[in-house]
Amino acid sequence: MPALKQKLNKIPAINIQLFQQAVEHERTGIVITDATRIDNPIIYANPFFEEFTGYHSDEILGRNCRFLQGRDTCKSAIRRMRGTLIQNKGFEETILNYKRDGTPFWNRLTVAAIKDADGEIHNYVGIQEDITARINAEAERDAIIGALHEIKEGLANFAHTVAHDLKAPLRGIDSFAQLIQDTQGTRLDKQGTEYLHFVRSSAQRMNNIIQSILSYSTMGHKAEDLESIDSQKLTEEIITSLGPHGVRYIKIISRLPTVVCRRSLTVQIFQNLLSNALKYGMPAQNGNIEISYLRESTNWRFFISDRGPGIDHQDFEKIFLPFQTLQIKGADSTGIGLAIVKKSVELCGGELDVQSCVGEGSTFSFTLPFLSV
Ligand SMILES: Cc1cc2nc3c(=O)[nH]c(=O)nc-3n(C[C@H](O)[C@H](O)[C@H](O)COP(=O)(O)O)c2cc1C
Ligand SMILES: Nc1ncnc2c1ncn2[C@@H]1O[C@H](COP(=O)(O)OP(=O)(O)OP(=O)(O)O)[C@@H](O)[C@H]1O
Ligand SMILES: [Mg+2]
Repeated sequence: MPALKQKLNKIPAINIQLFQQAVEHERTGIVITDATRIDNPIIYANPFFEEFTGYHSDEILGRNCRFLQGRDTCKSAIRRMRGTLIQNKGFEETILNYKRDGTPFWNRLTVAAIKDADGEIHNYVGIQEDITARINAEAERDAIIGALHEIKEGLANFAHTVAHDLKAPLRGIDSFAQLIQDTQGTRLDKQGTEYLHFVRSSAQRMNNIIQSILSYSTMGHKAEDLESIDSQKLTEEIITSLGPHGVRYIKIISRLPTVVCRRSLTVQIFQNLLSNALKYGMPAQNGNIEISYLRESTNWRFFISDRGPGIDHQDFEKIFLPFQTLQIKGADSTGIGLAIVKKSVELCGGELDVQSCVGEGSTFSFTLPFLSV
């Protein structure tokens, strides 16, 4: 204490009063120990330290702070503190302590060594903050995230099993409808033929939906290596696979870069966005679908813009949900494409975004991080 006293004596009286008042009113625990005495006893504890630990000042003064420790206090944290104090240093530690009534609390402890003019340590100041509520909230949040993860995985497995089990009876329906058409077709009147056609096209649509559920629920499950992909070449291949319309209307503004990514996911992203641009965003009068990119600080950003009908702002979230379409679902529209794009971009570590104005067109953009193989 003499060193601290000497120091304090040098401070003008008004400042000492202010300093004292600030410490007394502080809503975190503050203790000062005397490092010159055996076992580093507490020589000062502010009122809040007494308030939150429940100990009275005469149960505190003269004791080492370890009286706050108990059965479940981490032994290695105690060893760490001892090791640092032996080296005459301060430290930060979060440690389980106990109040006078036995209630455990998480103590965020900051200890500073107070040196005199010769660099000698005579005192330590400790600041104790009860962070139990924060630690409990974090643990609760982690538990909820874990449970949600399990539910999500359970749902994906459930969807996969159901979709898989529906395939066989559906194949049966379609095969028997075809058998009726082949063997009894001539005996059916116009209406019968039409009904049979509905059965077969509905079976086809349902098969598409089942396939979509299966591919969506298994996305990212298969281990796939990162590889260097020439996105220009890949895009050209996809455009060609989309048919003659693709080649005619899709323009690549400048040569696209080589990215490092998982191939199947990259294909899903470009294929779905380009086929949507052709399907929904075909220019009514003139104008093309354009592909461009930017090099940003940590990633590539690709843009696919069309001059089609555009998408209303209020539908921006809806379009990325599985099985959501903005028009009546047809045979070639299950509503899974953008959900697959979103999941693919996220699995690649990027972000997907849409900008659109009704009547003016849409721009879908996505990022792919710079990675190395
Ligand atoms: C200023 C100061 C404040 C301290 N405050 C606490 C505290 O609030 N809780 C605690 O468990 N240990 C606290 N300690 C650490 C213990 O006093 C002790 O140094 C630690 O248990 C390691 O030593 P030991 O192995 O001799 O017990 C504090 C130490 C100092 C110097
Ligand atoms: N470029 C676009 N311009 C206007 N509307 C679009 C565009 N892209 C998507 N949409 C709208 O978003 C909906 C969802 O698209 P998504 O790709 O998920 O499904 P889909 O194309 O209907 O079916 P799928 O891709 O499964 O064959 C579409 O049904 C369409 O209404
Ligand atoms: Mg689509």
